[in-house]
Amino acid sequence: MTDQPTQETLANLSREERRFEPPAELAAHANLTAEAYARAEADPEAFWAEQAQRISWAQPYEQVLDWSNPPFAKWFVGGRLNAAYNCVDRHVEAGRGDKVALHFVGEPLGDTRDLTYAQLKDEVSQAANALEELGVEAGDRVAIYLPMIPEAIVAMLACARIGAPHTVVFGGFSADALASRIEDCGAKLVITADGGYRRGAASALKPAVDEALVKLGDEGPVEHVLVVRRTGQDVAWNAKADGGVDVWWHEVVGESSTEHVPQAFDAEHPLYVMYTSGTTGKPKGILHTTGGYLVGASYTHWAVFDLKPETDVYWCTADIGWVTGHSYIVYGPLANGVTQVLYEGTPDSPERGRWWDIIEQHEVSIFYTAPTAIRSFMKQGREIPDARDLSSLRLLGSVGEPINPEAYVWYRSVIGGDRTPVVDTWWQTETGAIMISPLPGVTAGKPGSAMTAIPGVGADVVDDEGRPVPNGSGGLLVLTRPWPSMLRTIWGDDQRFVDTYWSRFKEQGYYFAGDGAKRDDDGDLWVLGRVDDVMNVSGHRLSTTEIESALVSHPKVAEAAVVGAKDEDTGQAVCAFVILRETAGDGGADIVAELRQHVRKEIGPIATPRQVMVVPELPKTRSGKIMRRLLRDVAENREVGDVTTLADASVMNLISSGLGAGKGED
Ligand code: PRX
Repeated sequence: MTDQPTQETLANLSREERRFEPPAELAAHANLTAEAYARAEADPEAFWAEQAQRISWAQPYEQVLDWSNPPFAKWFVGGRLNAAYNCVDRHVEAGRGDKVALHFVGEPLGDTRDLTYAQLKDEVSQAANALEELGVEAGDRVAIYLPMIPEAIVAMLACARIGAPHTVVFGGFSADALASRIEDCGAKLVITADGGYRRGAASALKPAVDEALVKLGDEGPVEHVLVVRRTGQDVAWNAKADGGVDVWWHEVVGESSTEHVPQAFDAEHPLYVMYTSGTTGKPKGILHTTGGYLVGASYTHWAVFDLKPETDVYWCTADIGWVTGHSYIVYGPLANGVTQVLYEGTPDSPERGRWWDIIEQHEVSIFYTAPTAIRSFMKQGREIPDARDLSSLRLLGSVGEPINPEAYVWYRSVIGGDRTPVVDTWWQTETGAIMISPLPGVTAGKPGSAMTAIPGVGADVVDDEGRPVPNGSGGLLVLTRPWPSMLRTIWGDDQRFVDTYWSRFKEQGYYFAGDGAKRDDDGDLWVLGRVDDVMNVSGHRLSTTEIESALVSHPKVAEAAVVGAKDEDTGQAVCAFVILRETAGDGGADIVAELRQHVRKEIGPIATPRQVMVVPELPKTRSGKIMRRLLRDVAENREVGDVTTLADASVMNLISSGLGAGKGED
């Protein structure tokens, strides 16, 4: 079930009159101009075929798209390629081996390292040889649980090079979350590090892998753990009954040959599985394949950021553990051969101006970050960025959640010196690449709006019956035709893939994105956020059900309901309502802290509830479904909305009075 955005939400969107025209200089030399829209619309497949020329194919494809068995697409049928070759070797072969691929900036001051494309090629080749040595073959899955260090990129590309799909697990996820992902995709190898630097200190990673391995047991799929030494922290060394498990990266990778011949794989060969939260407790393994994904990542990175690989220095602040890191740190930018910054740590370490120092030092020209970060900088005040020279910037991007007009304008004027266009890019783990965004050389930017589908992509806002809504109305966001970087399925669960994305508008053949959107009077799109039980905290997707399951796994909890409530800093915040078991009494003085800690341990720090409210009852419909809409009203301190479908309307009074009595927020 989904909630349509209400007319009230739509009306609440401020009428935004400000417009920012593209800078003349940028427009004059833009990679894509206005004609691309009509050309792509007239013949989308021909347009994608044109984009496919950005990639080196070991064997040309015979057909652009096979859509004979929807929603199971095949793109660039019969084509063969190697993703790592495309990201590294071909630049070296073209004489650009000395160009810096990565300006790595570790969190500790002065801990920097530049890697050229030639060096990257050597390291990726060494790692590919080492993986093969460890028995990893094409088709085997490899889990990667690493900090933001060059080895993370090397590991991903080494997997791609030998055709072993990787699944990168965000370093902030717990041992449990890691174990369930390893188990779901049956990863044979885990690549991790002793730790990484965060917030000024070494933060251990390896213990979570050790704990995950214990959970998975001796019969678990993992044969080896490859450990990068980053912080020099002590690590426990695992061994299975029949032999060693853990091996040091510097021993096996460091000792391997730098020669490795990349083999070509089918365009539809699996490239990676990225887990993301859905509406149930079980994360979905989103499968991306090689050819279409690489074309999508490379094209969008070039078009949306107006990339000039010869002169730009690009920086995306996402973590490699999310899809943004995959498409816009690894595959897009490296396929395009640009120089980029890779930063390990947090924005405020050792002090608040760290990001701006990095931009100044490396003369970053294109910067891509999330609204939640922008809002936190706004709070700190403009003095901090104003004290740095940010004049190298020429383009700014935003991703992960709706950017509110004020944050957009601040970003543009304070960080971008009122020169830079801001591209608000809408996309998802499932879409693999940007779908809706302004084009910086074409579109007059409108703060808060992601504007229109980029050339090649079809997007629409429709009502429940799948009919396009008129301008000025809201509805559900859909993608109207297949695109090369689309997810191919959910790992091991084709049915869930069909049900989740393709059943709602089966008749029309639309992909249902799960977001509500508004089309304004000019026909431009405003993405309003999820319409299902998925929330977005600091641009990260979390499932309400997953957090509820974590809560009820605590011995004192009988029932739990979780909602995402508006939050000034993080967009949405996790708010939990729990009913305690009778045996738990009032739960004890520390019950709130105890439950927050429990969720942190079960899922990871990002899922920690902002509030835990102990309540006597939960509002439910007659069919027993929790009415999260009402709880959201409570969490956001609104007048509680319509309660007519509630089985027992007095529940809301009970909740409100319980909260009034001071049980609740910590
Ligand atoms: O709700 C939308 C929101 O993030 C969701 C996708 O999350 P995830 O798969 O984790 O990928 C995040 C990075 C691509 C979407 O369904 N979202 C993402 N970008 C935007 C956005 N909402 C509004 N505006 C955006 N630019």
